[in-house]
Amino acid sequence: MAVTTATVKLDAHAVRADFPIFEQKIHGKPLAFLDSAASSQKPRQMMEAMTAFYSTSYANVHRGVYVLAERATAALEDAREKVRVLLNAPDVREIIFVRNATEAINLVAYAWGMNNLGRGDVVVVTELEHHSNFVPWQYVAGKTGAQFAMIALDEEGELDLSSLEAIAAQGNIRVVATNQVSNSLGTINPVEKLVAWAHDQGAIFVLDAAQSAPHMAVDVQALGADFVAISGHKMCGPSGIGVLWGRADLLSAMEPFLLGGHMINSVRLDKTTWGELPHKFEAGTAPMAEAVGLGAAIDYVTAVGLDTIAAHEHELAAYALGRMGEIPGITLYGPPAERRTGIVSFNIEGVHPHDVAQILDMHGVAIRAGHHCCQPLMQKLGVAATNRASFYLYTVREEIDQLIDGLTAVRKVFA
Ligand SMILES: Cc1ncc(COP(=O)(O)O)c(C=O)c1O
Repeated sequence: MAVTTATVKLDAHAVRADFPIFEQKIHGKPLAFLDSAASSQKPRQMMEAMTAFYSTSYANVHRGVYVLAERATAALEDAREKVRVLLNAPDVREIIFVRNATEAINLVAYAWGMNNLGRGDVVVVTELEHHSNFVPWQYVAGKTGAQFAMIALDEEGELDLSSLEAIAAQGNIRVVATNQVSNSLGTINPVEKLVAWAHDQGAIFVLDAAQSAPHMAVDVQALGADFVAISGHKMCGPSGIGVLWGRADLLSAMEPFLLGGHMINSVRLDKTTWGELPHKFEAGTAPMAEAVGLGAAIDYVTAVGLDTIAAHEHELAAYALGRMGEIPGITLYGPPAERRTGIVSFNIEGVHPHDVAQILDMHGVAIRAGHHCCQPLMQKLGVAATNRASFYLYTVREEIDQLIDGLTAVRKVFA
């Protein structure tokens, strides 16, 4: 008997009521916020958790022996445990708080890459990377004399795995760094296959999960990755906090990234020794309130359910792709809805993406226009920029209808 897994249907209108930003009008129109891939909006519950922390439990962490310092430390460590559970990490010491996904990747590129790469080694990324998972590796490869190789894209905007053989033939692959979901096309990449391939080559695998962790369950043990980077602000959390998860054995063997207070074991005139994980990688005062906010955001998205969110976004992507197909002269980029999250990139023939975005703004619709920090991808697509509409757990069909009405108006302006 076939077994079907019923997913609870997300009531986005009910979710939306938790987000005060939607209580306003923009240019007299309801706000259609279709730029969640850049940063998500914030639920009341997350903001209240931060306010409560500042109002009742604020002090610097890990230093004081008084009640407030102990409360603040417990709040920070409680948030770390929530991240561990979210990612199914084996050990809470592997959860490093950083500023954002960019810093998480830089941490690995510098602290692992600079000390482990050299001439004759190969660093592999993809043509689909955000600059945050491209530029640090290109830079570190250049500094260490390693080669920099790229997994190519096919016509649909998906990774062409047939290019792996030629890359493997180059020899000593040491790092494979890819995203799980493309911020530009929404493509969901075959990470398990890529991890297995990287490990077959003897390489470590660095996963940029900035666009996946907010939208689907990410299990670091099931994926088998060695490092995973996420940003809090894209998953209903505050700005200013991200996470690097790394395998404890790799993190323990690495040199620190930032140096100073808190990350030391002892400091002598002749020598400084490093603290234990995670402290070795958390120099300076921690993003304490931000961690509390991230913990509350994790509670929020997991209560809605990451599988439920993923199903909601697939449905919205299919609806948007169908309706956008009605617009004359539109080019839609990326794979079919079932192989992408809630991200739709497009161009309208003869209209600059910034003009599209500006006219849409007058209709209350917020989308992103530009290269989306993916210039190598733009080169591959043969364009300077695209428009991008992106969805999340609070996105409703009416916002997509508002987008279509706006695009119809764009067509009229540029008829
Ligand atoms: C796929 C991907 N990776 C990395 C980043 C960088 O995230 P942050 O700016 O929070 O460091 C982004 C941000 O858009 C992204 O979409």
